[in-house]
Amino acid sequence: MHPVQIPFNKPHLTGKELNYIQEAVAKGKLSGNGFFTQACQQLLQKKFGFGTCFLTHSCTGALEMAALLLDIQPGDEVILPSFTFVSTANAFALRGAKLVFSDTLPGFPEMDLEQVESLINSKTKAIVIVHYAGFGMQIQAYRQLADKHGLMLIEDAAQAISSKVNEKYLGTFGDLASLSFHETKNIQSGQGGVLIVNNPKFLERARIIWEKGTDRSSFFEGKKNHYSWIDLGSSFQMSELSAAFLWGQMQELEGIQARRKAIWEGYFRLFTVGKSELFAEKYDQLLLKAIANLGQGQALEFQKNVGNYHLFYLVFDSFQNRRRFIEELLSQGVLSVFHYQSLHKSEFIRAHQPESAMLELPNSDIFSERLVRLPFYYDLPEDTKDKI
Ligand SMILES: Cc1ncc(COP(=O)(O)O)c(C=O)c1O
Repeated sequence: MHPVQIPFNKPHLTGKELNYIQEAVAKGKLSGNGFFTQACQQLLQKKFGFGTCFLTHSCTGALEMAALLLDIQPGDEVILPSFTFVSTANAFALRGAKLVFSDTLPGFPEMDLEQVESLINSKTKAIVIVHYAGFGMQIQAYRQLADKHGLMLIEDAAQAISSKVNEKYLGTFGDLASLSFHETKNIQSGQGGVLIVNNPKFLERARIIWEKGTDRSSFFEGKKNHYSWIDLGSSFQMSELSAAFLWGQMQELEGIQARRKAIWEGYFRLFTVGKSELFAEKYDQLLLKAIANLGQGQALEFQKNVGNYHLFYLVFDSFQNRRRFIEELLSQGVLSVFHYQSLHKSEFIRAHQPESAMLELPNSDIFSERLVRLPFYYDLPEDTKDKI
């Protein structure tokens, strides 16, 4: 096997991060909620129109805060996609929720709205929608659905920074929303995330939960003469060192997005325009058709909404052909990956919610078995596309 020359991801550095980290060190406050944390939070609020932002150590942490804020009790039901990252589910499972898995749409890995509505009952507390690849096509309909049934809407926008639907940024629709700044994301701080509190009824408790369940924020603001333990909470904050790093990334967001757009469009042209003969040499016509169809589907969605060029994926006609494709690329030194095994079939769900493991969610399974992500990062060498 050839060594990997083109990895799947390479965290991009803007060159500003270390200067800001040095500044943070000079300021003498390195734990959370310092100068850079506040600067990042304010920028996110101003630039994207988000409600109050709380930087966290990860998007996972932000989702766990959301579950605490919803006051989920054992037996409460939360509707979420099966095709998602474990953190979407774990956050609510940790609070004892029953996870109610929905299938995705057939052509795109976003939850099926009609099916979600059919899953709502008197125990349902919240709908958690995941903006796969930075798209949130039906988010307005989900907002209406949640309002109609008096439910909370949570946006897992881990992949969706800078994406819009009808001129409004994803992350502004949910009562609560989360973004990730993991090193695979468009802008990153190694690990990191943010909880966005759009519904003001959650604001006061969010401050407390973020501060390990204490009213330390009020103490620091001089509103109390001591602080104490008053609610559940945990060490959710992002360190100032990470916030300083993130601030360096935020300064370059426009340039990063422009570069990612160019990469995305390069891939898109590769799989849709005038390359048929080249592919036919190696792969069968069916595979070719599957790739071309998907490309058009993505493009249509892309035009309707404004995505953020987070990732580029293909869906094959079979599990075997996906494997062949991944192996073929690897033999050329290019690492492509797949992700999200349908959660309803996971070992955890088989052990803890066995009735859910029996569900038939065919579209989730198709994406689990046939989707592949191509290498996608700022510094991707120009000749990668030709190689692929
Ligand atoms: C949809 C989704 N939710 C949550 C997460 C967790 O993010 P983090 O790694 O910042 O905890 C991820 C990670 O990529 C994700 O893809």
